Amino acid sequence: MLFLGIDVGTGGTRAVLIDAAGKVVASQAADHAPFQSAFPGWAEQDPEDWWRAAQQSIRAVLAAAACTPADIAAIGLTGQMHGAVLLDAEGKVLRPSLIWCDTRSAPQCDWLHATLGRERVIELTCNPALPNFTLTKILWVREHEPHVFARIAHILCPKDYVRLRLSGIYAMDVQEASGTLLLDVTHRRWSQPMAEASGVPLRWLPQLFESADICATLSESAAATGLLAGTPIVAGAGDQGAGAVGMGILKPGSVSATIGTSGVVFAATDQPVRDPLGRLHTFCHAVAGRWHVMGVTQAAGLSLRWFRDVVSAGVQGEPVSYEQLMIVAADAPAGSDSVFWAPYLFGERTPHLDPEVRAAFVGLTASHRQAHLVRAVLEGVAYSLRDTFTLFAELGIPVRDVRLGGGGARGPLWRQIQADIYGRPVELLVAEEGAAYGAALLAGVGAGAWPDVDTACESSIRVAETIQPGPAAREVYERGYQTYRKLYPALATLRG
Ligand code: XUL
Repeated sequence: MLFLGIDVGTGGTRAVLIDAAGKVVASQAADHAPFQSAFPGWAEQDPEDWWRAAQQSIRAVLAAAACTPADIAAIGLTGQMHGAVLLDAEGKVLRPSLIWCDTRSAPQCDWLHATLGRERVIELTCNPALPNFTLTKILWVREHEPHVFARIAHILCPKDYVRLRLSGIYAMDVQEASGTLLLDVTHRRWSQPMAEASGVPLRWLPQLFESADICATLSESAAATGLLAGTPIVAGAGDQGAGAVGMGILKPGSVSATIGTSGVVFAATDQPVRDPLGRLHTFCHAVAGRWHVMGVTQAAGLSLRWFRDVVSAGVQGEPVSYEQLMIVAADAPAGSDSVFWAPYLFGERTPHLDPEVRAAFVGLTASHRQAHLVRAVLEGVAYSLRDTFTLFAELGIPVRDVRLGGGGARGPLWRQIQADIYGRPVELLVAEEGAAYGAALLAGVGAGAWPDVDTACESSIRVAETIQPGPAAREVYERGYQTYRKLYPALATLRG
């Protein structure tokens, strides 16, 4: 018996097959076309491209595992959150999706807050309006493309569009739905008052499910992927929810720090804990009856990718590998001799909620080398994630164990920098396969291989290593963090 997890990410789609012991049998990925950014702050992707990559990664993983489709007992979906997929009555895509890091809808956030009141928005949805959230993107389309808005019949998020192509079913889980700003997060149902006030008819929204619930089955037409028609599909979760399941972040005290394209510090809670200032997201967890809070750094791994592609590419534009960059960075001392990176390439979410602030290197002198710049990027991203730990402390959210995930957990240097900057031991897992793994575990729960998500995680997830903060570096970074905290107020005054 196997379970298939599919993660429709930003850079690509990954398909992971696991067995009933939670062991990875095969994992394959297919790249997406880079997102289109016609203007600063815009980010669009074509849902058709996600579907192409999903089919490609499914075929590849089936071939790699050399299994028969009948071995697959259930499928779980996950993906980049918040993207607005706008469909007509036939389920046809009406325009490219405005994805999570698209921040053009700041004026629509202001409109929502002015119309409803910021407190009322937080009361209804547990979160303030942010340009990353789906609703504000829909409101941008209403204002700027009324001809598109007039034809909307269905709204989905990225992975739910792939589900539609796999099954013909419009469905969404409550964890993903929390990031639309249309969910009553406390009661795990669509918020009628929010939908009414914003002018989005409830009939456009898909049916809601808990993450491990079976909500669809594979259609005949999707059998071309190599999967068997009739295979159950569970609701799944957004990448942060499924990623947390894949790392065993399920109970209060349990926290993850994941550096992917974005960076997320995620804590499980047993009730919807709200930040009255709305700096943290309060969402339903992928486990029924549980919630989570998280702080998001918009450009975490994205900072390093940008640095690699734009700054460090050789004279001929030769691509440099991340491994090479890490070797270069190791040559600079902790604290990068006072060079700082403020990672605001796409504005910032936590804790500043400022889509307009811009990124910067600060503190450069002629004696700094490339090593200082790369290391400063790694440190700046970790400082930014530390801001969320600071908020957790402020709000009394318990932090017992911190597990590292994403690309930021793959190499020893960034791992150590994180332990030193967070000032606490951090754990590395034996196999950290990301959100696709969590989606596969949810599929296993849906298929009955485990009675619940807690049992699935207990029997599958192991800590490989605990990394302790080093006392000397810790001191440098304590001072560094105080300086880092002064960057945002200074940069916020510089508007182009
Ligand atoms: C979470 C978020 C990102 C995306 C892309 O709120 O915006 O993590 O899900 O990975």
